Amino acid sequence: MNKRQFIKTIGTTAALTILNPLTALSFSEQPKISNDKKVLILGGRGFIGPTIVKSFLDGGYEVTLLNRNKTNTHLFENLPLIICDREKENKAGLKEIDKKYKDKFWDVVIDTWQKSPKAVSDFLEEFKDSIGHYHYISSVSVYDKWDKKFIKEDEPLNPLPELPKSIAEGMEHRYALRKTFAEEIIRTRIDNYTIYRSHGMRDYRSVDPNNIIDEPFWPIRFYRGGEILLPDVKNHHIQAVDVRSMVSFILHCSNKKTFGEFNIAFQPTPFKDYVSSLIHATQKPTRMHWIDGEFLIENGLIPYKIVPFWKPHPEGSYYFNVQKAIEAGFVHRPLVDMIKDQIEGYKHRYPKNDIKFGEQPDGRVKCYSLDQEKEIIKKWKLKNRN
Ligand SMILES: NC(=O)c1ccc[n+]([C@@H]2O[C@H](COP(=O)([O-])OP(=O)(O)OC[C@H]3O[C@@H](n4cnc5c(N)ncnc54)[C@H](OP(=O)(O)O)[C@@H]3O)[C@@H](O)[C@H]2O)c1
Repeated sequence: MNKRQFIKTIGTTAALTILNPLTALSFSEQPKISNDKKVLILGGRGFIGPTIVKSFLDGGYEVTLLNRNKTNTHLFENLPLIICDREKENKAGLKEIDKKYKDKFWDVVIDTWQKSPKAVSDFLEEFKDSIGHYHYISSVSVYDKWDKKFIKEDEPLNPLPELPKSIAEGMEHRYALRKTFAEEIIRTRIDNYTIYRSHGMRDYRSVDPNNIIDEPFWPIRFYRGGEILLPDVKNHHIQAVDVRSMVSFILHCSNKKTFGEFNIAFQPTPFKDYVSSLIHATQKPTRMHWIDGEFLIENGLIPYKIVPFWKPHPEGSYYFNVQKAIEAGFVHRPLVDMIKDQIEGYKHRYPKNDIKFGEQPDGRVKCYSLDQEKEIIKKWKLKNRN
């Protein structure tokens, strides 16, 4: 599919609105296969969904979406859409699905669902004989303990109470339990599945473009340049995952029929190497101040809560073992490329580069402000002069 055909596919309005995202989502490295395979994407118009849709279109799949037609309705206007509310009790939403889709066979179904394990269960009960390969976006939060490094896919998962009997009951559980429940349900209902246990997704998009809390602090801070404060934890490891790399792997698993559970993230990476990628992506800092952690804490810059990617505990938190995915064909693109996309997304959302970190008008705190940073650097310089 060439660019013109794709723009036609998603509709003119969408093309104008998300021109930059499309550039960011150009998957030229993907092998093009024209196999007429059908993929049903449950969701598709939120955070990672659009990347999945674009990737499967590029991969030669016939794409259908299933959602309520509420979120980002300008996206993929010309793709077939099954309108369905999966949050309706007793499968009422699924039962309303147009008859023309009832007997259809989907080579691939990708479920981006997070909210209700019962919704996963209902869908599989209703459609499991119509699915060739089911993919589910899960999370490393399914592991019971993060108390050691290099947790593999066969480590114990969160112990589960009784399976929720209704959508509402399922929603009462915390995120990690809902993901664990959903996985458990998948394993009991279907054989041909792939589960992606993702870790801290990063993308051109932000999870909620209207919420400052979801903006990527470090890429934006380096993009702004000047004198930058850094916690002196150069060899502290960090880990997350680039959405594009993960989605390429979903396509790969679909094409190769690769089944099972996979931890999905980049290799544990020293913070200083991440900083090096930030510099390469922006060429911005005039000076970096590596400041002692205790001093930062004394001045209110609390690890993780205020300073992202500085999380000394628990031991396993940035150390998940991703070898199984790598052996199955997962390739994480360079962090520099991921960071550049994050910055492009920020520039698109904040063309005036006027985001204000620190305390927000509603009392929430997102990292720290430029003024706070200046003040702490000044104090640190003074301290070290004496
Ligand atoms: N690890 C991380 O950092 C991280 C970050 C973000 C997301 N995630 C995970 O990634 C997964 C994907 O989330 P996403 O938002 O990016 O997915 P998405 O597929 O891009 O967006 C969610 C989709 O679900 C649809 N939807 C919402 N409520 C629905 C309902 N009741 N019935 C049917 N469809 C409904 C929405 O459309 P309508 O509103 O129109 O129905 C939307 O298209 C989630 O499982 C989440 O846990 C992980």
